Parts: sequence; C-alpha cells; structure tokens
Amino acid sequence: MAAIEILGLEKTYMVGFWRKRPKRALHPLHLTVEQGEIFGFLGPNGAGKTTTLKLLMGLVFPTSGSARILGRDWTDPDIKAQIGFLPEQPYFYDYLTAHELLDYYGQLSGVPAKQRKQRIEEVLQRVGLTDVKGVQLRKFSKGMLQRAGIAQAILHDPKVVFFDEPMSGLDPMGRREVRDLMEQLKQEGKTVFFSTHILSDAEALCDRVAIIYKGELKGVGAVEDLTSTVQGRVDVVWQGTQVPASMKALGAECHVSGDTVRAVISEAQQDAVIDALRRERLRLISITPVRTSLEEYFVEKLRRAETSAGGAA
Ligand SMILES: Nc1ncnc2c1ncn2[C@@H]1O[C@H](COP(=O)(O)OP(=O)(O)OP(=O)(O)O)[C@@H](O)[C@H]1O
Ligand SMILES: [Mg+2]
Repeated sequence: MAAIEILGLEKTYMVGFWRKRPKRALHPLHLTVEQGEIFGFLGPNGAGKTTTLKLLMGLVFPTSGSARILGRDWTDPDIKAQIGFLPEQPYFYDYLTAHELLDYYGQLSGVPAKQRKQRIEEVLQRVGLTDVKGVQLRKFSKGMLQRAGIAQAILHDPKVVFFDEPMSGLDPMGRREVRDLMEQLKQEGKTVFFSTHILSDAEALCDRVAIIYKGELKGVGAVEDLTSTVQGRVDVVWQGTQVPASMKALGAECHVSGDTVRAVISEAQQDAVIDALRRERLRLISITPVRTSLEEYFVEKLRRAETSAGGAA
C-alpha cells in the first residue's frame, strides 16, 4: 500500500474581479509516494506546490481528480489522525505560549489528555523549544515559529507528514536541525512529503523528488538517478599543491584549495593522470565520476519546459 496516491488532482482557480477568469494552478497530477520515503516536491515560485498540498489536506477543493492516503480516500475523516501538516506560513494565535499552542492542537487532533503532557514535552524537546515553552509566540523569531509549526504537525505521531517549505526562514543550523528531524521521522518508518526551493536540502535528504513547473509535473525520480548523468568526466583529487607538468599538457583545469588539488578530466585521460601523479609521488585522494547536481537537473528541466512552451506559443 502506497502512502500517498495522487490520482489526477487538478485545480483551476477563478480569478479577476467577477471571478470569471479561470486560472489553472494544477494540471491533472498523478504521483505515488511509497511508505517510508522522504519525498521532495520541487518547483519555482507559483509552480503549484502549495496548491497540491492544500488539495491533499482538503483545504481547497479540486476541480477534478482524487487521492488516496494510506490506501484510504483522502477525504475520509479517519485519515486525518494519521497525517500531520505544516502550512507554508503558519499563523498561530500569538498570545499563546508554545506549550499552550501544542496543548490546543493536541486536543484538536485527539491526543488523549493522559498522554498529552508527556507528548508535548517530547516534541518540544525534538524541535528545540523546551527552554521557551512558556514564552508567548509573538516573541518568537521566524525560525522558532517554524519549529512550533513542525511540533504541531508531529504532535499526534502521524504516519504521513506534509511540510510546505519546512526550511523557509531558517538559518543554516536551523535547516540542519529540520533535516535531521526529517531523517529521524523516516527512521521511525514515517513518510515525509515536503516542498522546497532549497535544492541542496532536497538532494541531501530525499529518496525521490518530483519537479513541478507552471502546474505540470516535469520529472520524477530517485535523486541518484536524476543526478547520475556522468558525461564521461571524472573528478580527481590529490594531496599537495603541486600540478605535474604532464597534467598541464593534457589541458586539465586544476584548482588548488588548502593542501589539495582538484581537477576535472575526461575518463579517457584517467590512466595518464594517475601515471603522472605516481611519477611525481603525489598521493591520490579520490577519483569520482562527475555527477550533475540536482540544481543542474532542475534548471535544465525548467529551461526545456520554457523552450517547449515558447515553441508551442
Ligand atoms: N486562492 C488562489 N486564487 C487564485 N490563484 C491562486 C490561488 N492560490 C494560488 N493561486 C495561483 O496558483 C498558482 C500556484 O500557486 P501555489 O501557491 O500553489 O505555488 P507554489 O509552488 O506553492 O509557489 P511558492 O514557491 O511561491 O510558494 C500561482 O500562479 C498562484 O498565483
Ligand atoms: Mg507555496
């Protein structure tokens, strides 16, 4: 049984003063997320990420299509207990303290009174807000509010969590902590579906990603597969600051940083380069195939989408 099956969900908003002009935010989307996956939903501003999440949460109604979560129809009220949601810009009543907020959400999501206190302490600890649990949210920084939002999303121990831009507004340490938290959730067997702009986070975290652009799915796959286009090039790193003359003759571009040198060469030159390093008694540290980054894949996909849209116009 898949964690999430999106079966042609589609959304057209009616816009303009009289709400007569249709605006298609999401073309029929088909996507399956397996249980235990960390799945990244990527796309530029206005791509339709939040719309998709809101549709899945039942916050907006689809123009057509449906979805299943943990094998049940997504509108089934019982399924709500199994899912957690962090909205894009969570807004909370800011005269509540973090503890009061979580107590309120705990009641809403049906966490039994007996377990609530302990559960709240656990999640506060997990998101690093224990020390400020008695502080009103209006005094929280953006990053702290984001953590409070994450805490309410996982409070009732859901099996599937949906995070809309969970790293937004966080500094590098905060982002790292959220990444670690998502990894922990995966280790606990949970499914994490999140949207992001931050491709390096997606690359480090996700089992699979989908790329959406102007409401259309443009690519989906395992990060490893999407970034494995090697193009016959290898990255060679050796110790020292010296570049053998024979390597310069091969035309390899070498970059010295600290006490290592890095060169990107063609696979065909690999043996000649290793011989040159040996002759000079330089210590080879690594030889790795060059992979395209997720960012390169993403930019290329969007460029192609843009070109084909231009061609069709
Ligand atoms: N309530 C609404 N009424 C009309 N149009 C909307 C509404 N909500 C979203 N849209 C439009 O739908 C499209 C998709 O928006 P959405 O918020 O889903 O994008 P997104 O991928 O989450 O973008 P971002 O990265 O900026 O958060 C945009 O063109 C947006 O203007
Ligand atoms: Mg959004």
